[in-house]
Amino acid sequence: MASIVDEYEAAEQAAIIRLEGKVVTDSPLYRSGPTDPRDPPPWYDELSRDPPVQILAGDDPRLPAMPAKPTLIDYFTYRFGPSQHLLQSARLAKINGCSEKIVLACLLHDISVFGLLVPEHGYWGAQLIAPYVDEEVSWAVRYHQALRFFPDPEVGYEYPQAYINWFGPDYQVDDYIRRDYDIARNHQWYMSARHITINDLYAFDTDIIVPIDDFVDLIGRHFRQPEEGLGLDNSPAAHMWRTIMRPTKFL
Ligand SMILES: [Fe+2]
Ligand SMILES: [Fe+2]
Repeated sequence: MASIVDEYEAAEQAAIIRLEGKVVTDSPLYRSGPTDPRDPPPWYDELSRDPPVQILAGDDPRLPAMPAKPTLIDYFTYRFGPSQHLLQSARLAKINGCSEKIVLACLLHDISVFGLLVPEHGYWGAQLIAPYVDEEVSWAVRYHQALRFFPDPEVGYEYPQAYINWFGPDYQVDDYIRRDYDIARNHQWYMSARHITINDLYAFDTDIIVPIDDFVDLIGRHFRQPEEGLGLDNSPAAHMWRTIMRPTKFL
């Protein structure tokens, strides 16, 4: 009969994911919430096995392979979740006569939500793109995070009904969001961030599927694609792109 220790060990082992004979690690953020982030991850003891076991330190075979020199479009194709929200927002910005820079900002405004992290998505998204776009574009992505909570009837932006649904009618933004709103409101690029919120779609028009192909030329003109591949360059955000490419790479 198996002892309690054996059963515990079996359960621990069952929680470990192995691919191609290698142990797969995950990051504290993936577990934080579903489990207490202070607990050791299931794979933690595998690092000190005798004899040693190998740890996955490259591409995750469960994910679609990416080209050797990935482009922004490749990330849309192989890594980002449903991106119609971004494409439809960019389409709307174009219809509304926004400049190409603003259309690009709309196209990229929520890439963190679909590719990296949901909390603080405007700030993360801005950092992801900052080395590759005009400063005004990343600035606008950063500040749409705060601006979307503050109506500006003069330019036709109302507080979104979706936010009343999602956050509740009495929701109060955090102090740092109010602070960042004030910063944005008094900035020369205020309207650039405001245009993101104006063209942000809070409900999907499911009749229209916008292909990324519609924006390939615009991306080519306004997104500085690194020659080595996006993420394989040496920009201050390259490691963030590599993390999207290989989210389970060990260390
Ligand atoms: Fe957003
Ligand atoms: Fe959005």
